Amino acid sequence: MVLQVISLETRNLTVKLNGNIILRNINLKFVGPGLYFVLGRNGSGKSTLLRALARLIPFEGEIILNGVDITKYRRRELSRIIGYVWQNPFYGFFESTVEREIKFILKNIGSEENNTRFKELIEYFEVGDFLRRSPFTLSGGEAKRVCICSVLVADQQIYLLDEPEGELDYRGLEKLVNFIESESKRKLVIVATHNTLLAHKMRRTINKIFIVHNGIVVGEFGPEVLVNKEFLAEVGIVPVYWWLE
Ligand SMILES: Nc1ncnc2c1ncn2[C@@H]1O[C@H](COP(=O)(O)OP(=O)(O)OP(=O)(O)O)[C@@H](O)[C@H]1O
Ligand SMILES: [Mg+2]
Repeated sequence: MVLQVISLETRNLTVKLNGNIILRNINLKFVGPGLYFVLGRNGSGKSTLLRALARLIPFEGEIILNGVDITKYRRRELSRIIGYVWQNPFYGFFESTVEREIKFILKNIGSEENNTRFKELIEYFEVGDFLRRSPFTLSGGEAKRVCICSVLVADQQIYLLDEPEGELDYRGLEKLVNFIESESKRKLVIVATHNTLLAHKMRRTINKIFIVHNGIVVGEFGPEVLVNKEFLAEVGIVPVYWWLE
C-alpha cells in the first residue's frame, strides 16, 4: 500500500474571540500519517486550535492543508478531509436517533452508501444497542463513543480529537487507544488533551507533543516531556507521576 503524505500547517495563526486574543502567532506543522498530541492546561487554547484547524472559527494568518490554503476548500470537501470530534459530545448532537446522528455526515458529504465503515465503527465502539435511542438520552461515555462514530464514519484523512478520552471507562479507553494507534498508521491524528496519562499510554506511537500555554506554543517535545515534573508544573499540566504518588 502506498501511503499518501498528509500535511497541515499553521503560519502565524492568531485567533481572537469576542475581542480577546486566544491564540497568538502559532506556527505548527503536522505531517501524516502519524500521531501528534497538543497538551495544555484548562483554557490554554487547545480546543480553539483544533476548531481553527477544522476551519470552524475565524482566524488570522494561514492554515495550509495538503499544500493548499484552507480557505480555498469548499466546506463539503473539507468535511471529507478533516474530522473534528467535539470535546463535549452533546454540543454536536441534533438528530432524533443515534443512527441518524451517525449517518448524518455521510448524507452531507454524499457518501450514504458507505455502510461498511458505519457497521465497522458501531460494532467496534459498541454503540449498536443505542441506534434507535435519542442521542440526548445517552450517558456521558456512551455519548462520547457515539460522537466519535458520528464524525469518523466519514473516514477522513485527518482526525482532530478533542479530549477523546473524557468520560470513557477501562473498556472504552482500551478501544480508543487501540483505534488511535492503528488509525494513525494511515491518517494524521491530532489529539488535544491535558491528560498526560493518555499521552504516556501512547508514547511509543506519538510523533511529537506540542505544549500550548496561554495561547502560545511553548515548544515541541518527545514523550520524555511527560515525566518532566518541573516543566509540566510550570505550564499547569499534571505530570504522570502525580497519579502514582
Ligand atoms: N467565544 C469566546 N469568547 C471569549 N473567550 C473564549 C471564547 N471561547 C473560548 N474562550 C476562551 O479562550 C480560552 C481557550 O479556550 P479553549 O476552549 O481553547 O481552552 P482549552 O485549552 O481547550 O481548555 P480545556 O482544557 O478546559 O478544554 C479560554 O480562556 C476560554 O474561556
Ligand atoms: Mg478544550
